[in-house]
Amino acid sequence: MRLRLDQKPEFFVSADISTQQHEVKDMTEDNRTVFLHNDDVHLVLIEETDAPTLLRGMNDTGTTRFLNRVDMPTSLDFEREWVRGLYTSTNKLVLGIWMVESQKLIGTISLNKLCYRNGTAILGIAIFDTTHHGRGIGTSAITMLLEHAFTRMNLRAVKLSVFSHNARALRCYKRCGFEVVGTIPNWVFVDGKYRDEIIMVVRRRRAH
Ligand SMILES: CC(C)(COP(=O)(O)OP(=O)(O)OC[C@H]1O[C@@H](n2cnc3c(N)ncnc32)[C@H](O)[C@@H]1OP(=O)(O)O)[C@@H](O)C(=O)NCCC(=O)NCCS
Repeated sequence: MRLRLDQKPEFFVSADISTQQHEVKDMTEDNRTVFLHNDDVHLVLIEETDAPTLLRGMNDTGTTRFLNRVDMPTSLDFEREWVRGLYTSTNKLVLGIWMVESQKLIGTISLNKLCYRNGTAILGIAIFDTTHHGRGIGTSAITMLLEHAFTRMNLRAVKLSVFSHNARALRCYKRCGFEVVGTIPNWVFVDGKYRDEIIMVVRRRRAH
């Protein structure tokens, strides 16, 4: 299955923001608390029982070679502790990416370093298991979270950093409206080579 997103999203803030379904609802079918959703992908609260899934994902080099944590294993205790700390502060919003079709948690997405004074945050995303990559899931999850960030949280801009060997992520972020604002040459060492870190930003566009 390949999810479809035909147009580059426009994150307008206007009187009509009813297109986004944003209410927290309890999906009794799978007992997950769903925070944002579309037909195919739900963004759910992460629970302690997800720790084994996170553990597998975070020890899979197919995923971690694109993150800044390739060189150390993670443990079940570490993941459990991480989950326990997730919903205790207001400076980050971390959600699980849940596939409706398979009823599985397949990754995480987050707005980190939320700063209400500046109206900014830093996006992070990891979809575990390469079989889920390149199917439109990342684009779908990011679009949902950005719409929430701009129309509900009143953020102005969201930043991220991506490594130059991550062509899929670069393509996905551009589709979601991010633009490259700078590059730090030779910043990370992955698979025996130094790679550039690319900084991208997406800004809210105000409707007049
Ligand atoms: C990066 C990531 C979130 C993107 O999500 P995704 O669901 O795989 O991406 P999508 O399918 O929505 O979009 C990928 C785009 O890149 C294209 N693409 C797929 N494989 C590609 C490749 N090897 N090289 C270049 N482009 C590729 C797809 O065709 C698609 O573009 P299109 O929509 O114009 O056709 C996901 O792949 C992931 O989590 N990867 C591992 C961890 C990671 O890299 N995290 C981000 C760190 S910054």
